[in-house]
Amino acid sequence: MPKERERGREGEKDGEKDGEKDGEKKEDGEKERKRKTEEVWTEKYRPRKLAEVAGQKAILNNLQSYVRKRNLPHLIFSGPAGVGKTAAAVALARELYGEIWSENFTELNASDERGIEVVRNKIKNFARTMPVGDAAFKIIFLDEADALTDAAQSALRRTMERYSGTCRFVLSCNFSSKIIAPIQSRCSVYRFKPLSYDAVAARIKFIADREGLRLSEDAVKAINYVAGGDMRRAVNALQSAAVLGSEIKPETIYETTATARPEEVESLIKSALDGEFFAALEKLRVLTERGISGDEILAQMHRLVIKMNLSARKKVELLDRIGEADFRITEGANESIQLDALIASFCLSSRGG
Ligand SMILES: Nc1ncnc2c1ncn2[C@@H]1O[C@H](COP(=O)(O)OP(=O)(O)OP(=O)(O)O)[C@@H](O)[C@H]1O
Ligand SMILES: [Mg+2]
Repeated sequence: MPKERERGREGEKDGEKDGEKDGEKKEDGEKERKRKTEEVWTEKYRPRKLAEVAGQKAILNNLQSYVRKRNLPHLIFSGPAGVGKTAAAVALARELYGEIWSENFTELNASDERGIEVVRNKIKNFARTMPVGDAAFKIIFLDEADALTDAAQSALRRTMERYSGTCRFVLSCNFSSKIIAPIQSRCSVYRFKPLSYDAVAARIKFIADREGLRLSEDAVKAINYVAGGDMRRAVNALQSAAVLGSEIKPETIYETTATARPEEVESLIKSALDGEFFAALEKLRVLTERGISGDEILAQMHRLVIKMNLSARKKVELLDRIGEADFRITEGANESIQLDALIASFCLSSRGG
């Protein structure tokens, strides 16, 4: 499934060349980056220093010690979307290189330019020129490295060796298992985790404060629920709710992100487990009519079933069915039939105990 991603940074680099209008706003030597992305908070509040990256404490400690030693090994950042992999790499480069960070750092997306070409051309071209300033090496950040074919990864491995004098690689991926073993053994692997409730809450409150928003604890809870440990989603949720007014309410968060309230999904599951098929079906309709997608409903059911007060045996049974429906929908089965069938099977399971 193609994952949702923000492509702010590439446009931003183009913008750096031609944008020269408001000289005062240059921060950290970075020119006009705000011009295009001013309104996108995930960019506006992209951490500039390692210390600003929320959570991931152990990883940040190590990265900070690389900065102090002014040296680093090749790195693999693996983990789910929106937890700070790119943010940490950019902050690392900023701290290492200061003003000239963007000259010594490049970000490439492996899945944009499938396969081996990206390794042969872009990476080699960047790798073989000398670092700018007094830097000992440059950094190549390769996003979605797990999308590279095995052949491309083998080519990459040779490139890494050949240019390791002047270049460090940071490979970002969702699953490090998709990176071939010879590359893994040349890198220090860091596993980024979904962000904790407190980490998301603190960052969201910080942004809300800067933007002059009023944010209740319930709204923070809602944002956390919607985000599921993904800071990009959390920040986006806050921004889309803020468009509607400076008082952030939980309802707005659920509405603008097309997420059901946890209570609604829980009550749907409970009705089904009580064998009330029509009531459950009606609750499902209410959600789908609000434009909440089938896979979103499944994802929420998945999270709630794990949390709900049910026996382990029951959970196993329900999760197995949710997994089945999820797989079928991904394979192209009719969403509404699969959801109805899932509800039906929950009802049947209520009778079987
Ligand atoms: N740990 C974090 N601390 C503070 N902000 C964060 C953190 N993680 C993500 N963000 C916010 O979310 C945005 C996107 O994060 P980032 O690009 O680092 O995600 P990622 O882990 O690289 O995800 P992907 O796998 O989709 O590339 C950042 O610009 C920042 O605004
Ligand atoms: Mg990224």
